[in-house]
Amino acid sequence: MIFPAGTVLCAFADIADGASKGFTLGEGDWPLRGLLVRLGDAVYGYVNHCPHAGHRLNFHPDRFLTPDGSLILCLSHGALFDKASGRCVEGPCRGEALKRLAVKVESGEVRLAEPADLEKLVTRYW
Ligand code: FES
Repeated sequence: MIFPAGTVLCAFADIADGASKGFTLGEGDWPLRGLLVRLGDAVYGYVNHCPHAGHRLNFHPDRFLTPDGSLILCLSHGALFDKASGRCVEGPCRGEALKRLAVKVESGEVRLAEPADLEKLVTRYW
């Protein structure tokens, strides 16, 4: 399944400046789970899949950041990621990066900026 460019992920106002928000596209056992991080007027999107061991980053909805809000945190083994680049700056996958999802803010909504192919973005485990 391919979600077209322009697919709405959430309202821009739903993400406080500096904060994060999760989203899910699709249904069933293997939807596309992602996270958004807002820095001022910019929003960055990533697939919710840690490059270390492939776990989801968060245990609680919309909570993807360190307590001080400065970095993205994977709660499984503590990897820390830069909010704007997704690059791991500390932890077991240092130098790797979260998979980027191109997003844009348009008409007060955060939307996909490019089509998102579920088959290419979701890692399945059997
Ligand atoms: S799975 Fe994220 S740090 Fe290990």
